[in-house]
Amino acid sequence: MNTRVLTGITTSGTPHLGNYVGAIRPAIQASQQNNVDAFFFLADYHALIKSEDPALIARSRLEIAATWLASGLDPKRVTFYRQSDVPEIPELCWMLTCVTAKGLMNRAHAYKASVDQNTAKGVEADDGINMGLFSYPILMAADILMFNAHKVPVGRDQTQHLEMARDIAQRFNHLFGQGHEFFVLPEAVISEDVATLPGLDGRKMSKSYGNTVPLFEGGAKALNSAIAKIVTDSRGPGEPKDADASHLYLIYKAFAQPSETANFHAELSAGMGWGDAKKRLCERIEQEMGRLRAHDEDWMAHPDRIEEILQEGARKARAIATPFIHELRQAVGLRSLATSRTASSSQPNKKEKASGKSARYVTFRDEAGQFRFRLLAQDGAELLSSIAFADPKQAGAAMRALQQAGAQACLKLEGTLGLLIVQGEQVIAKAPDSASTEQREQLIATLTVAMPPSDAA
Ligand code: TRP
Repeated sequence: MNTRVLTGITTSGTPHLGNYVGAIRPAIQASQQNNVDAFFFLADYHALIKSEDPALIARSRLEIAATWLASGLDPKRVTFYRQSDVPEIPELCWMLTCVTAKGLMNRAHAYKASVDQNTAKGVEADDGINMGLFSYPILMAADILMFNAHKVPVGRDQTQHLEMARDIAQRFNHLFGQGHEFFVLPEAVISEDVATLPGLDGRKMSKSYGNTVPLFEGGAKALNSAIAKIVTDSRGPGEPKDADASHLYLIYKAFAQPSETANFHAELSAGMGWGDAKKRLCERIEQEMGRLRAHDEDWMAHPDRIEEILQEGARKARAIATPFIHELRQAVGLRSLATSRTASSSQPNKKEKASGKSARYVTFRDEAGQFRFRLLAQDGAELLSSIAFADPKQAGAAMRALQQAGAQACLKLEGTLGLLIVQGEQVIAKAPDSASTEQREQLIATLTVAMPPSDAA
């Protein structure tokens, strides 16, 4: 299986250099590797926590989407979507909320920082804090666990959230998995050299500090005037500078090749003036960003194209999320009443299975002499029908693999009404087309109950 890499950017501001260097650029590089499945998204539900300005959120969604695309994200390779287009995410968030200890959230840095500020101001501890801010790590866990991401590239300030996501995943697995691990435990990826870019004032560049250098907005002019505001020490031209302690140098390093960086370092040590250093920094950033800015302007002028790409991304994301949330609904007990056998037993009971009273497989040879199998419901209705195999051993092996893995692991949505059964990349069977999406959801539920993974049964 490929490594799943997932990351999101909160759409509550204009993309800045820190987003580009710390998140967008490394994520796009990772997505270009062969053994990686990348999931990049606009964290627009997260944006509601911090902003009550609809126009700002709408604008930011467009700008951040355009930035990803202008920076080279290939929507054919990457599943690129908006969080708010995947309703399974908030549904999962609620399931996770119900297994998360409140005490865990009390310890979240972002929440504690707000409480500390309130205490320092002498107001009530929770003054101005909404429940979104308080439980935001759970929404972030849902973002990650929904797609069972292995690796999550984030800034260092997010490591605690990844630990919390692992905690929550483990708890859910333990409570409902009966030995089956629903969720992969995700790992944070923090690249040492690009971890955090200093902002104008030297603190981490972040929209929450208002110390950012805009990436594209305002063009080269805005870039130059922001860089002019970066704080430096008071050493004049000709005086040796401490390059390593300089924010300018750290930003330069994030854009330049090692040899250029070494040069810049040497010239600062030899007394290059801060004014000249800023000019050099602007030129170097412009060399990389000028080209991308032209793409960005093009995307910003065509929001309809971006919308189309995001809709397609949501479709791809939901092809994974819909069957998975069904599986999780089954696990927590939110099951279709039509498929429940007895009020007291959750799994199809072993006796029933052994006597073949629930769904059963039948194998047969078709007119062309090829080997096939079907899964039939208790009432004889066809639940799925396999492709033709030349060799009966192959047909048998595919059927056994399916019994082992269970239906949920193999389901893949096709169009709006179709349902495929896949093993790896290969389609091995098809369910009859449903008449409506509701009917398809019902079918998924039926298959989930009829074909549990064999180790969980
Ligand atoms: N909280 C992240 C930030 O502020 C953004 C984010 C939301 C995210 N959901 C995520 C990042 C899931 C990685 C994975 O930077």
